[in-house]
Amino acid sequence: MSNWIKLGHLNDIDDGCARGFDPHQLGRDSLFVLRKGDRLLGYRNACPHRGYEGTSMAWRKDRFLNKAGTRIICGAHGAQFDTETGECLIGPCPGQSLEKVILRLTETGELYLQQTPDNEQEQY
Ligand code: FES
Repeated sequence: MSNWIKLGHLNDIDDGCARGFDPHQLGRDSLFVLRKGDRLLGYRNACPHRGYEGTSMAWRKDRFLNKAGTRIICGAHGAQFDTETGECLIGPCPGQSLEKVILRLTETGELYLQQTPDNEQEQY
């Protein structure tokens, strides 16, 4: 598994919630993962409203979702994103999308992030 970075375990994320991760020790959560039962979806923690570099989205540690857990929210200007596709549905960047990250969940619940050329450079 040399091209996978261990993030943690499925049980580290409460069902219906999201959690930020800092796999490259940047001192900030560069990505977040949300859990729907045994399914996980991961995105870069970078709002597309402000261009490729993006803006960190959580208004507080691990607060990436609305109260009902049905949409991803950007704390900067309130953009709302579809949890399945990452597409902005409401807010200042309609039609733009969050960038998905590739995750792997083992049978024992270990969670890994796929190492890509982008994240090998620790650009997020
Ligand atoms: S930076 Fe996310 S909505 Fe403006």
